[in-house]
Amino acid sequence: MSDPTATPLDLAAFPPSFAWGTATSAYQIEGAVAEDGRAPSIWDTFSRVPGAIDNGDTGDTACDHYHRWPEDIALMKELGAGTYRMSIAWPRVVPGGDGPVNAAGLDFYDRLVDGLLDAGITPSVTLYHWDLPQALQDRGGWTSRETAEHLAAYASVVAGRLGDRVGTWATLNEPLCSAWIGHLEGRMAPGLTDLTAAVRASYHLLLGHGLTTAAVRAAVPGARVGLVTNHSTVAPASGRPEDLAAAARMDGHSNRWWLDPVYGKGFPADMRELYGVELPEKPGDQETIAAPLDWHGLNYYFPVTVEDDPEGPVPHAREVRLPDVPRTGMDWQIEAAGLESLLLRLTEEYGVRELYVTENGSAFPDATGPDGAVHDPDRVRYLEQHLAACASAVRKGAPLAGYYAWSLLDNFEWAYGYDKRFGLVHVDYATQKRTVKSSGRRYAELIRAHRELHG
Ligand code: FCB
Repeated sequence: MSDPTATPLDLAAFPPSFAWGTATSAYQIEGAVAEDGRAPSIWDTFSRVPGAIDNGDTGDTACDHYHRWPEDIALMKELGAGTYRMSIAWPRVVPGGDGPVNAAGLDFYDRLVDGLLDAGITPSVTLYHWDLPQALQDRGGWTSRETAEHLAAYASVVAGRLGDRVGTWATLNEPLCSAWIGHLEGRMAPGLTDLTAAVRASYHLLLGHGLTTAAVRAAVPGARVGLVTNHSTVAPASGRPEDLAAAARMDGHSNRWWLDPVYGKGFPADMRELYGVELPEKPGDQETIAAPLDWHGLNYYFPVTVEDDPEGPVPHAREVRLPDVPRTGMDWQIEAAGLESLLLRLTEEYGVRELYVTENGSAFPDATGPDGAVHDPDRVRYLEQHLAACASAVRKGAPLAGYYAWSLLDNFEWAYGYDKRFGLVHVDYATQKRTVKSSGRRYAELIRAHRELHG
């Protein structure tokens, strides 16, 4: 369904230096899970739990990027994307989580970074995109404070090796998903449904972010360090006071809990009370968590509408499925205005001075045509609408410096397995053949048009 009210795309709003990128993450594309000394992560374990992943899929092979990375860099070049957001697999570099470093793991990323730079593509490296070494999970994972310290130690190793060529670093990807979906809802690794564990995990993830920020800066003078969080705009299902309160709780759960402490406001008091779980706080932690950042990465996919659900799980706010709204193949509501409003909120409420959209994209059931081409008009529309929302946010003052489309390739979409395709490039998993979709071509055109605009 198209949106007749959608804003036209105002490419001229983006500054000449605007970074156009694509994004992926290690476990979703690399495969080669038992090669060159890599040890299992919590996702290797979780993907073997019967029923955890659609079709029983695993990341064992994924897009075989571990072997096909030169071809994938060539695809980025073909799209004209000047930057690439990638993540490093902790279990390749420090397979035990702490302790010995695996040289072969580091060598892989060393070659990858060189390959990107040779192609004129600037890497933006995320240190933790959910693939915790299983050895650390066996010792409590994110419920344990030590995991935060081990993250920082592993980050020092990676930054020490790549920091002469990589200037942009993200500590964590979407800690909300690790904590809430992984420890409370049980839909992601490690698959727990325990509020106390989830709240402790959320705390240690943010502490890990703060410790890692300092570790990367110590290893790489001048490094530009940021955090990547995912957010949704939250609307009440009605004007009833109960629904308004439910929306405020959901906003606390999905947005304020993750942003307030990072931007020096501390953990929100209303949410602390709602969770009723004592935080494992130590003196100095608040300051560590609130270390000033060079940039913030926003991942945006959909808005949510909620109603009061007093008997339901924390935060006692049930999502309402609106009828007659456009949706992606994930059943996620499409509303580009949510992206604009979150960019402005980060600017105005949190004072962020440099912003990136580090992920945004859509899954649709793409089919390869008889001519071998993949036409994905729905994804083209999603891309254009969301870029238009970005441009509008820039016109209103958001310091947006770049956009990374999720994703370069179709890949292992976590609990949804390979069925949900987010790529600008189609992957035929039987042959590993890559085909640039219409959306990839459209993205390339927009990048080119923006470049031409600025001569
Ligand atoms: C985000 C994840 C990313 C991808 C997209 C669709 O939550 O960061 O890895 O799965 O969703």
